[in-house]
Amino acid sequence: MTQQEEIIRRRTFAVIAHPDAGKTTLTEKLLLFGGAIHVAGAVKSNKIKKGATSDFMEIERQRGISVATAVMGFEYGGRKINILDTPGHEDFAEDTYRTLSAVDSVIIVIDGAKGVEAQTRKLMNVCRMRKTPVIVFINKLDRPSKEPFDLLDEVEKELQIRVRPLAFPISNGPTFKGVYNLYEKNLSLFTSDERLTADASTAEIADLASPELDGYIGSKYAEQLRQDVELVEGVYDAFDRDAYLRGELAPVFFGSAVNNFGVRELLECFIRIAPSPRPAPTETREVEAAEAKMTGFVFKIHANMDPNHRDRIAFLKICSGTFERNRNYLHVRSGKQMKFSSPTAFMAEKKSVIDFAFPGDIVGLHDTGNFKIGDTFTEGEKLKFTGIPSFAPEQFRYIENADPLKFKQLAKGIDQLMDEGVAQLFTSALNGRKIIGTVGALQFEVIQYRLEHEYGAACRWEPISIHKACWIDSDNAAQLADFKRRKHTNMATDKHGRDVFLADTSYALALAQENFKDIRFHFTSEF
Ligand code: G4P
Repeated sequence: MTQQEEIIRRRTFAVIAHPDAGKTTLTEKLLLFGGAIHVAGAVKSNKIKKGATSDFMEIERQRGISVATAVMGFEYGGRKINILDTPGHEDFAEDTYRTLSAVDSVIIVIDGAKGVEAQTRKLMNVCRMRKTPVIVFINKLDRPSKEPFDLLDEVEKELQIRVRPLAFPISNGPTFKGVYNLYEKNLSLFTSDERLTADASTAEIADLASPELDGYIGSKYAEQLRQDVELVEGVYDAFDRDAYLRGELAPVFFGSAVNNFGVRELLECFIRIAPSPRPAPTETREVEAAEAKMTGFVFKIHANMDPNHRDRIAFLKICSGTFERNRNYLHVRSGKQMKFSSPTAFMAEKKSVIDFAFPGDIVGLHDTGNFKIGDTFTEGEKLKFTGIPSFAPEQFRYIENADPLKFKQLAKGIDQLMDEGVAQLFTSALNGRKIIGTVGALQFEVIQYRLEHEYGAACRWEPISIHKACWIDSDNAAQLADFKRRKHTNMATDKHGRDVFLADTSYALALAQENFKDIRFHFTSEF
């Protein structure tokens, strides 16, 4: 196969959802179709259940699982599909945002009874920012659900994206009959005993007016379906793939993941319409997947579980060219040439050393502490991929050394955990104290635990009252200097030495924005 053919057949995506909507279940069913796993239950849920915050073993166990399921590759219909896993717990949302920088499209799972939930909305904001194409899967139709048209309206309004149903459900809950596939014009009938790979039985319905339909689902539901489909065709424009690829239109499917219902329809449509690797933006230019030279960036770093080896796995997304084992590549940030003797690829739960990888693929690189999130590898060009932002943290604590003899270990531990993107480190301009900022409270416990177990260091947290940290810059040097002088007690620098304003309250932030018109306040690190 040529490089071009390899690119065209790749589909790299993530399944995202509010916790409990069915992300893990759907992922598992997709893998079953791909033959990547053979029994249900093989994909462990990677969610940290609420209330598990004090259970550190649970956190450790979850971290182990999330390494195993970070990337799940499989073949289906001649396509090479890479599913990137995202943590379910919202305290790890930042990790999810970064993973979204490495995918070409997403499938959003929504619980049909609950509709659009908080986390779905946040994740969609990130997709919208990046114009990522999204497909919506409305799940759990075997349970009493909201009305389909209400769900469609809710998705459109809450996720701020035009929708186009490509399947339509026939009733829900105990009377759930099945799904009419508007894309292929056939009917999938629901039987709830197909837990494994068994496929739903389908009936070709060339003409919805035919009495055959009544025979399958009864006159009452047949009539309802005819009306619904007429309404769908009347209200929604024909499916426009280009609009989907631009991230402006979301095709919508309905089904029940746990019953393996509606999943094949979703997958079949997905491999047809979802994009192969898209151009990747850098600070200087866009990189096309078809370019001959290899480029890629690190979007995730994962510490290994073995306490005797403090090595890590860096996940590299290949953006162009062909990645080869044992070949020298430029690590742009350090300017050093590096080669990798055992790069790994991921097929479902198996990991194997590979010789080649193509755009869209994720390669695991052994890292002894040299890499950071966002690092770029090339064949010589000094590129820096963009779109891997850090988000303004919302929880803050001073970090103090609790064991004076372990000062070095602590510094190294903090350094490496920050490189992994676990949290962000700021240094107060006022007193030089170190402040850790995170998106979720759970991170503080994770950091303390990992510092102790992986680095032999002890830390102590002290409270600090900060509403939000934001990066500031300005073209008006005098005003910037004035601002920094007046707000001296609230100023800090991030690990790159950039100016950060630590606002005490939302009021103080609004006031600062009002009074210092020439200063830009940024809520992501990329500006
Ligand atoms: P998540 O990764 O998005 O957090 O969700 P997950 O797949 O773990 O699913 C959450 C719960 O919803 C699970 O039940 C799962 O079995 C159930 N579920 C998923 N899809 C469907 C569906 O189509 N219909 C129904 N009725 N339930 C569904 P659980 O009780 O938390 O776990 P389990 O003991 O069933 O594994």
